[in-house]
Amino acid sequence: MSQALLLRAQGLHKSFGAVVAAHDLQVDIRAGERISLIGSNGAGKTTFVNMITGYVQPDQGQILLDGDDITGKSPRDITRLGVARSFQIPQLYPSLSVLDNMLVAQTIHDNRLSLWRPANKADAVLRAQEVLARFRLLDHQRRLVAELPGGLRKLVDIALAMTGSPKLLLLDEPTSGVAAEEKFPMMDTVMQALGSQPLTALFVEHDMDIVSRYCDRVIAFYSGRIIADDLPAVALANADVRRYVTGEKDPQEPPHA
Ligand SMILES: Nc1ncnc2c1ncn2[C@@H]1O[C@H](COP(=O)(O)OP(=O)(O)O)[C@@H](O)[C@H]1O
Ligand SMILES: [Mg+2]
Repeated sequence: MSQALLLRAQGLHKSFGAVVAAHDLQVDIRAGERISLIGSNGAGKTTFVNMITGYVQPDQGQILLDGDDITGKSPRDITRLGVARSFQIPQLYPSLSVLDNMLVAQTIHDNRLSLWRPANKADAVLRAQEVLARFRLLDHQRRLVAELPGGLRKLVDIALAMTGSPKLLLLDEPTSGVAAEEKFPMMDTVMQALGSQPLTALFVEHDMDIVSRYCDRVIAFYSGRIIADDLPAVALANADVRRYVTGEKDPQEPPHA
């Protein structure tokens, strides 16, 4: 049984000067999928995420969310429509506590929806604490973000993105900068937190153990093109993926069409 189509990217193209960062990308994402984007540095993963979230405008192509054209909309409007993201480097206020970071994110979110009610601090704290509890961060809510180890800081960043119950969550390298022994516990927590709502998630990820364990689909990029889009076991066994993503570090030739 096929699930509902949530996002369709068709014919997406983006050049930066002579660099083609996206070449005719076609991607359909169905509700509830957990997808990994893989590819070496410069392959075009972040550009793809940036186009979906409105931070980069495609030169050509269309992005449909629930059938509505969101191409060219601002990041703010796209967030309001239910697409949330985290960044490769967490966008947090290090000198504020975890809870205060959540409250800031909520205020920004509520402002987007024109819901801001200054008298509702207690409500806001409860809402923030609900999300923090899902990410097992309640014990850390009073700590300053600057004091947290990398894994917890990434969790806070993802918890912030979850403010406002998005339909689609895009995580750019959630485990980068996280110590090896922290990665699996961290991803267990993230997946459990996501599992509590019908959420579709896309992760940019370099660790193939994480990819195989937590995702049900892999999209592999090379030089602005998609070279594989399949179940993790199939995609990771693909010859081009082995050659250009998981194998040799410095490929000389483009993949065969
Ligand atoms: N804002 C930009 N200006 C110029 N070149 C860019 C910009 N963003 C990305 N690129 C280039 O586009 C290509 C794809 O980059 P990116 O999407 O960041 O790759 P990845 O996330 O897979 O490492 C790279 O060659 C990168 O240098
Ligand atoms: Mg990137």
